[in-house]
Amino acid sequence: MMELLTIALPKGRILKESLDLLKKAGVDCYKIDEKSRKLIFVLEKSNMKFFLAKPLDIPTYVEYGAADLGIVGKDILMEESRDVYELLDMGIGHCRLVVAGPKHIKEYPTNLKIATKFPRITENYFLESGRQVEVIKLNGSVELAPMLNLADKIVDIVSTGVTLEKNNLTEHEQIAEITARLIGNKVSFRLKAPMIDNLINNLSSIIGRGE
Ligand code: PRP
Repeated sequence: MMELLTIALPKGRILKESLDLLKKAGVDCYKIDEKSRKLIFVLEKSNMKFFLAKPLDIPTYVEYGAADLGIVGKDILMEESRDVYELLDMGIGHCRLVVAGPKHIKEYPTNLKIATKFPRITENYFLESGRQVEVIKLNGSVELAPMLNLADKIVDIVSTGVTLEKNNLTEHEQIAEITARLIGNKVSFRLKAPMIDNLINNLSSIIGRGE
């Protein structure tokens, strides 16, 4: 039997777009469904195995070779900084990583407190511009932090902007534009080169066509 190509897919907001793209690239991944609670899907005809994982863990699976490839947001790649190859910008999951704060506050303290799910990105970003901040790590719903006086500002993902708006926050600075990336394990990239190249070529030919 031919060796399988193992691919880690992120549960949550970019799963559907990822599957749509894979289908267009000719991968028969119709069985994959987050709601089924099943986590591993073997596609024998395509010689592929997919599994669903928490987005933050995807670079870890790929670095250790538990997955040959993975799909994950650039925000998570920046935060995790794992030893993997970034192979392709998938052109899906567009959003922005920003610094935001309460709408009506004009003056902030010199030593800002920033709440975020992305402590490493936040520390680096403020360090690079020579500003001292105290970073407070949260695991979600970070928009709460300024309202509850836990922090002065937040660093978070903005997609539609609705969450900021509904919580009386406004964008102050943009840190990065984010899209989903295809990442690869460094050893697999050599050992499974034909399969990986084939998938990259098929994906590249449909990305950005806006179908
Ligand atoms: C993300 C992000 C914002 C929101 C932005 O959170 O952290 O809270 O989506 O989207 P919007 O600009 O379209 O409103 P997510 O839904 O992933 O949940 P979390 O806050 O629990 O991490």
